Amino acid sequence: MTATLRKIEFYKHDLGAEELASLQKTLGSLFLTTGPRVAEFERGLGEYLGVPHVVGVTSCTEGLMLALMAFGVGAGDEVITTPMTFIATPNSALYVGATPVFVDVDPQTALIDPEAVEAAITPKTKAIIAVHLYGQMADVKRLRQIADKHHLVLIEDSAHGVEMRRDGAAPGQVGDAAVFSFYATKTITSGDGGAIAVRDPAIAERLRRLRNHGMSKDAASRYTGSYKHWDMVELGYKCGLSDLDAALLLPQLPRLDKRCASREAAVRKYEELLTGVEGIRLLKWTGRSAHHLFTFLAPQGRRDAMLEALGARNIGVAVNYRAVHLLSYYRERFGFKPGAFPQAEEIGDRTLTLPLYPWISLDDVAYVVGHVRDVIAGAA
Ligand SMILES: Cc1ncc(COP(=O)(O)O)c(C=O)c1O
Repeated sequence: MTATLRKIEFYKHDLGAEELASLQKTLGSLFLTTGPRVAEFERGLGEYLGVPHVVGVTSCTEGLMLALMAFGVGAGDEVITTPMTFIATPNSALYVGATPVFVDVDPQTALIDPEAVEAAITPKTKAIIAVHLYGQMADVKRLRQIADKHHLVLIEDSAHGVEMRRDGAAPGQVGDAAVFSFYATKTITSGDGGAIAVRDPAIAERLRRLRNHGMSKDAASRYTGSYKHWDMVELGYKCGLSDLDAALLLPQLPRLDKRCASREAAVRKYEELLTGVEGIRLLKWTGRSAHHLFTFLAPQGRRDAMLEALGARNIGVAVNYRAVHLLSYYRERFGFKPGAFPQAEEIGDRTLTLPLYPWISLDDVAYVVGHVRDVIAGAA
């Protein structure tokens, strides 16, 4: 290919003047760590979701771990989840000493299959972690029924967005906790960060303690008024969201829906232009997706060559995800072999993610699809 090809980035953030002004306000204040701006952001996100308690943390990974801890999931317990996810999901179970138990996904949506979840329940099962993949919500209502029937905790890995809705519910309204990521490429970002949304005030209080070493008071309450002794009441971690992160996140809340609509327009264009291209398959989405990632299934056996060819044409591409159970650590520790979860494995072998971010132009989408078609047709 010639060197004149224009670059289409995989992701571009949408942070600018409003975030700068918000950051300046925080820099001019007393608090940089977990303080009043975090509290303001937690309230704002809670209102957006319609969930009463939000606890800001440093990442979704830490949030998943703390959520499991707060609900008493630990050594000897089994946590059912999907292998079609980022490693952070099952790793969170390992961090608390539990065993992740994978079940296969629905081939049409790539989402965890609730009936497979029910079939995998054993006396050791303590929790289910559903993953709202690419921004499309898993069937939380069905999973809730299963969780209630078997007295299990239902956690929603909602790293792929806050905007999604399914059957009238937002993340955190049906599950016992929903955990979000504000990593650099997510639909709301502070570079890194996360949050946990819960309905139970006692769990929210425990999460606030767990994000701060298990201390009885956080920094903001220690430094207001006269000095008060604090106590350590359980073993926690140091993973509170900072006021600097919250300063970046707050101005994005009112822009979420507009950004999501812009990504949705791009996704519809991708789907329109890719429909009928030989050998590829589009995944199904229903309800309101957060449209975090646009993925499709490449023709059998051609995904890796396509990644290379599109990269050489200056188009940002990625894989979300290769099935987790076949990664070296999981194979070696748990003995997984190909064939264990055929639907997730097929998606893992064929899935290819194309550029998507707020305000990507439909022209750029058409340009990307032109190259995808060329590459599939075998053009140089
Ligand atoms: C499905 C899923 N879960 C969890 C995470 C972890 O998020 P974080 O980077 O905020 O820890 C990610 C990150 O990409 C993810 O995609």
